[in-house]
Amino acid sequence: MIKVITYGTYDLLHQGHINLLRRAKELGDYLIVGVTNDSFDRERGKLNVFNNVLERVEAVKATGLADKIIIEDYVGQKIDDIQKYDVDIFAIGSDWEGKFDYLNEYCRVVYLPRTEGISSTMLREDLQDDIRIGVVGTGRIAKRFVPESEFVSYVKITDVFDTDFGKSCFFAEQNRIVNVRHSYDELLENVDAVYVATPHLSHYELCKKAILKKKHVLCETPMVLNGVEAKELFKLAEKYGVVMMEANKTAHSPAFNHLITMIKSGVIGDVVDVSASESKLWGDRFTRELDPKQAGGSMFEMGSYTLLPIIKLMGLDYTNINFYSKMRDGVDVYTRGVIRYPHGVCSFQLGLGVKTEGNLVISGTKGYAYVPSPWWLTDYYEFRFEDQNLNKKFFYKWDGAGLRYEIQEFVSCIFNHRFSTARLRRRESVVMAEIMQQFMERKNFMEI
Ligand code: CTP
Repeated sequence: MIKVITYGTYDLLHQGHINLLRRAKELGDYLIVGVTNDSFDRERGKLNVFNNVLERVEAVKATGLADKIIIEDYVGQKIDDIQKYDVDIFAIGSDWEGKFDYLNEYCRVVYLPRTEGISSTMLREDLQDDIRIGVVGTGRIAKRFVPESEFVSYVKITDVFDTDFGKSCFFAEQNRIVNVRHSYDELLENVDAVYVATPHLSHYELCKKAILKKKHVLCETPMVLNGVEAKELFKLAEKYGVVMMEANKTAHSPAFNHLITMIKSGVIGDVVDVSASESKLWGDRFTRELDPKQAGGSMFEMGSYTLLPIIKLMGLDYTNINFYSKMRDGVDVYTRGVIRYPHGVCSFQLGLGVKTEGNLVISGTKGYAYVPSPWWLTDYYEFRFEDQNLNKKFFYKWDGAGLRYEIQEFVSCIFNHRFSTARLRRRESVVMAEIMQQFMERKNFMEI
């Protein structure tokens, strides 16, 4: 039996792909198709892929030409696959002519004629105009958002609005944004989506207004500080056919995502404890971050990051939660939260006025995962075991401020009419908002 292998992204599967797969199949008796994983594509700088890996695998499956479909995850995997599956022929389109000659050492390499006049890139361009995004609020995070959006195809930041018009003008000039709007309504009239980066307490009203005008919303984390409001916004967004997403950059980081999937597949056994810590010493600058009237404090400022690994790994059904906080001028400058689950206990530490180690440790029955500070923007983690020879380190790409990954997912949700992203499910956002609410209401709260 002659085995043939070929690889590709197969985004928006088209006739060129089908022709290629047919030609590859004709070279032998058994065709293996490698579909590139989303994280691998991102690592290669391909941030504009429309369909996620599951959708792309389904599309290849539907051609009926593949005998086996595998996922391509890392550089060098082709050699491993060729040996593992005992492949005779590696086939790829002629646009790659010469690039895979190094595989000749392992099997025969065949460059097949490419179908002229069609490609995923062309289809993506035809299919969609740029999404016009309006930025609302011009603080620190918004400043990072605009340059990051330039790495994502099919989005354009066209408009800006801030309650301080002078600030809007300055922001627009700095970021080459064409339209400075005098009101939020005016901005909403002129965009397809908004990025809400205003102080926490204004999020709910701004998101709701945008949804009612049928605009997609990417809202900075914490989205809202109330579970009922979170549920309402998601429900409303679905009703109006728009995407509502909480912008938690860590949830979209390639390293973090892989860490979660590996742990879920049992690498460190059953997870019993997740301890996440984050701190950012704020000093005495009196800004929104320390203002009790604007929901300042450590919990609201950073809590959603430390809750993320806990909720992702342990789920939504915790049995109870307790908060221990050091207060200063009406806000928590330090909070430790302890969350009990039926089969585990988790904790998080947050400090605006207390410095903590800032790492993430996930303990399981077979070993533990260690992610050094700053784990929330990580490109590296380790699995450690009793037998140190088994320890393993993993390295990833984390580009710039890392916001491009969440923007890309937002765009992908819009294009594919997905109301929820697996990276941060709506119900996960809701549980985070409920926990924020408990803290706001000082439930199970103790001052230290
Ligand atoms: N292919 C082809 N003819 C085309 C387009 C792609 O034969 N018109 C082949 C490629 O050479 C490759 C496989 O299909 O062997 C998968 O390619 P992929 O990169 O997924 O498709 P493209 O349409 O080229 O994607 P993009 O525009 O994003 O580069």
